[in-house]
Amino acid sequence: MREVTATILENKQIAEEIFALTFACEEKIPVRAGQFCMIGVGAHPLRRPIAVCKAEGERVTVCYRLKGEGTRTLASEYKAGEKLSVLLPLGNGFTLDKKQKKIAIVGGGVGIFPLISAIREFSDREIRAYMGFRNKAAVCMEYEMLRADKLVICSDDGSAGFCGTSVQAFKEDLFGFAPDAVLACGPTPMLRALKAAVKGTGIPTYVSLEERMGCGIGACLVCTCKKEDGSRARVCKDGPVFEINEVEL
Ligand SMILES: Cc1cc2nc3c(=O)[nH]c(=O)nc-3n(C[C@H](O)[C@H](O)[C@H](O)COP(=O)(O)OP(=O)(O)OC[C@H]3O[C@@H](n4cnc5c(N)ncnc54)[C@H](O)[C@@H]3O)c2cc1C
Ligand code: FES
Repeated sequence: MREVTATILENKQIAEEIFALTFACEEKIPVRAGQFCMIGVGAHPLRRPIAVCKAEGERVTVCYRLKGEGTRTLASEYKAGEKLSVLLPLGNGFTLDKKQKKIAIVGGGVGIFPLISAIREFSDREIRAYMGFRNKAAVCMEYEMLRADKLVICSDDGSAGFCGTSVQAFKEDLFGFAPDAVLACGPTPMLRALKAAVKGTGIPTYVSLEERMGCGIGACLVCTCKKEDGSRARVCKDGPVFEINEVEL
């Protein structure tokens, strides 16, 4: 993990309430799919955790939805050419075995962004991606997701692609595709539905959790989640990626 003073290259709106921020670090920083960064915004003492969507050389792109004070300040006050304080790379990221050749990717809401980096990193495998959005106005980064061998865009109201959730679309394809592994990220109810969908199939399923965070480096314990064995894990340091049966959802 490094603390870098990055230079903002672009910070622009790409869909309803969604912005893409690209910054350049002083040097190339290797980042794995599923890893995240902590971005310092304004005078607020706590940085914001945001997944890395794309890392190419020293250029890193993250995408964020406007939520509270931090993300709204980031969107309105941080312009190209300005400096940004960032900690990266953080967390463990997605790891796949060479034998896992057919990969299903299931994302929802802002959970699609770390999965875009997974589509890039595992492009040597056969990938089917099921990506869920609220509606057509929220759909973004389609050109990146089209790197998958099959892409199913889903929307809650049917205004774009499949009408329903990404987990429903995944379930319809599950036995036809028979993936060797599933990678997922999204809101907790979506991950719960996914856990039920893969139960009894024996397919290794890895989920990236998005808990509230304080430090992002394992020191404050704000981000702990409960594990199925009764112990607790730090999402920032032990995760954010866990095997789905390892954690309580
Ligand atoms: C590993 C990880 C990856 C993430 N990746 C993305 C991403 O790619 N795109 C995206 O839009 N969002 C992502 N999030 C959620 C994002 O961190 C929050 O939406 C953001 O921090 C909200 O900050 P705010 O100041 O705008 O909102 P506020 O609600 O004002 O935030 C106040 C505080 O709560 C924390 N917080 C609030 N909501 C969340 C949340 N859902 N998760 C974690 N911390 C939260 C903030 O860090 C801050 O310290 C990710 C979260 C985690 C943990
Ligand atoms: S955010 Fe501090 S320990 Fe995870």
